[in-house]
Amino acid sequence: MEGSVDHNETLDSLLHEERVFRPLPQMMIEAGVNPQDLRAARELADTDLSAYWEEAAEELDWFTKWEKVLDDSEPPDYRWFTGARCNIVYNALDRHIETVNKNRLALIWEGEPGDSRQFTYYELYRAVNRFANGLKSLGVSKGDRVVLYMPQLPETVISMLACARIGAVHSLVFSGFSARLLRERVREIHPKVVVTVDGFYRNGQVIRLKEEVDRALIDTPAEILESVVVVHRANVDVDMDSARDYWYEDLVRHERPHAPAEIMAADDPLFILHTSSTSGKSKGVIHSHGGYMVGVHRTFKWVFDLKPTDIFWCAADPGWITGHSYLVYGPLLAGTTTVMYEGHSLYPQADRMWNIISKYGVTIFYTSPTQVRTLMRFGHRYPEQHDLSTLRILGAVGEPFNPEAWIWLHKNIGKGQCPVLDTWWQTETGMIMISPMPVSVLKPGSVTRPLPGIDADIVDIEGKSVPEGKGGFLVIKKPWPAMFIGVLGDEHVIRDHYWGRFPGMFYAGDVARKDEDGYFWIQGRADDVLNISGHRIGTAEVESALTSHPHVAEAVVVGVADKIKGQVAKAFVTLNYDVVETDDELHSELKSHIHRELGPIVIIRSIEFLDELPKTSSGKIKRSALK
Ligand code: WT7
Repeated sequence: MEGSVDHNETLDSLLHEERVFRPLPQMMIEAGVNPQDLRAARELADTDLSAYWEEAAEELDWFTKWEKVLDDSEPPDYRWFTGARCNIVYNALDRHIETVNKNRLALIWEGEPGDSRQFTYYELYRAVNRFANGLKSLGVSKGDRVVLYMPQLPETVISMLACARIGAVHSLVFSGFSARLLRERVREIHPKVVVTVDGFYRNGQVIRLKEEVDRALIDTPAEILESVVVVHRANVDVDMDSARDYWYEDLVRHERPHAPAEIMAADDPLFILHTSSTSGKSKGVIHSHGGYMVGVHRTFKWVFDLKPTDIFWCAADPGWITGHSYLVYGPLLAGTTTVMYEGHSLYPQADRMWNIISKYGVTIFYTSPTQVRTLMRFGHRYPEQHDLSTLRILGAVGEPFNPEAWIWLHKNIGKGQCPVLDTWWQTETGMIMISPMPVSVLKPGSVTRPLPGIDADIVDIEGKSVPEGKGGFLVIKKPWPAMFIGVLGDEHVIRDHYWGRFPGMFYAGDVARKDEDGYFWIQGRADDVLNISGHRIGTAEVESALTSHPHVAEAVVVGVADKIKGQVAKAFVTLNYDVVETDDELHSELKSHIHRELGPIVIIRSIEFLDELPKTSSGKIKRSALK
């Protein structure tokens, strides 16, 4: 085998995870969607995709119904719910205030200093309408764009919904980005208004965001941007340009709490959001009112098995798609209570997340592998100090979930009682695509199977399905309703990049394998695949093997050129806080650990121990920086 080249460029799979977790009997009884329902849904979707999604769409309110569920006459220009009229905010707010949900909590927000604000559906509805009218008073109307350069605040949710209500297109720019990036985005997006804050709290500091805005907008002409709206948060002094800047509070004070929801075509744009791409240029992905609403609503309710008593916490920033789909839109469409936390997960100490869960009685906690690995470095002492008994479901997204971190979450946070759902999806997909449901049999490290209606597969370089056990490129073979409807400023990227690489299939850019049960295992990004002596190996497998060593908290491997092997691996590792061994001892210990776990193929040339790994602002490891 040594030195052999696999001509189809499939991937080798070296990691074998044998642990299996079956759903608890109680879950099987209580789940809204049980295995029989799931089987029926898959059958329906496989035989009649439109019928499956039509049924999902019927659960929502439409001003005018569709002529066609899916127009696939001109691929890859798929159009969902053609002819239909709707507004996602009507479904997220108006629909609920006609029911008992009116007085239910829509949003629980906690500030980093410990302050808290809560909104019922009715209160949120009124706040959104006021700001919708405020935006209109600044001349914003249907089709205009609004940039939201905002941290995790209630006004961020309110602004998103206020824009969507009047048909304006919102574009969140992550509050951790600097003036330079904001300037770039403003020039690309041409918003009529930017909404921001004076400052906000992050890790005990006040971040002065309005100052960044001022820097970003130096000599930006009024043709590009007319107004800036500033929310009071941190009571810091800011310069207000009297011709351009308005305080949010002044703008909404005299506005009426009623504003009609604009009647939108199902494929009118709802928002633009840039991918957090770890390689290449970030793309401004566009999502719609109709299809996005249907996909997010269905996946939110099904994957998290929503109950009327749930308190849902998605710990992602609204500046990312996870925050859009499952902090804001999904929970509000479903009429549940969504939790939002302003600050840093380790502030003032490493139990903040557990404290929030116990304080509000969170029942579903949706996080990321990065966050789990960060918290796990502190051991089980902190979780033990808090009452986590309200939790019933745990979930994660964003990066390959290494089995050790999965197990830690399951054991220490879920106390063995909560399914851990590893959900695979992307900014472009808008909604969860491959994921277990609470009644699924779980394997740590696997995203299990595609959801009903999602035709995912793994193909070789020629686009042919690879056999079980082999790795290859992850593709989606049929359209889905929450799919992106465009990319800012580039029509060709859709045809060439996403749908052109394997004609007729959506290319996700990830590598994965399927096991004998049809379970998917994500092996990393296609761009990062290692090639050691002709063996193509996904980075996630080597990283999972490294983190299965009890001393390792996080690991990243990159390929480095080698005269004989072509490539060998170089690893960067962070350690748990209680490790006492020297780097030299650990070096040889980890090398033999990798040999035991993965066999002789993966040669690790060197291991570097770091205090922290460089991360993108969305928490993904920056491989390019380490390369
Ligand atoms: C990329 C998409 C969707 C919200 C967060 C990121 C990676 C995502 C998983 C998972 C392994 C995952 C993929 C994907 N990814 N979820 N469960 N297991 N990898 O959105 O910034 O568009 O990134 O994140 O590489 O392609 P995004």
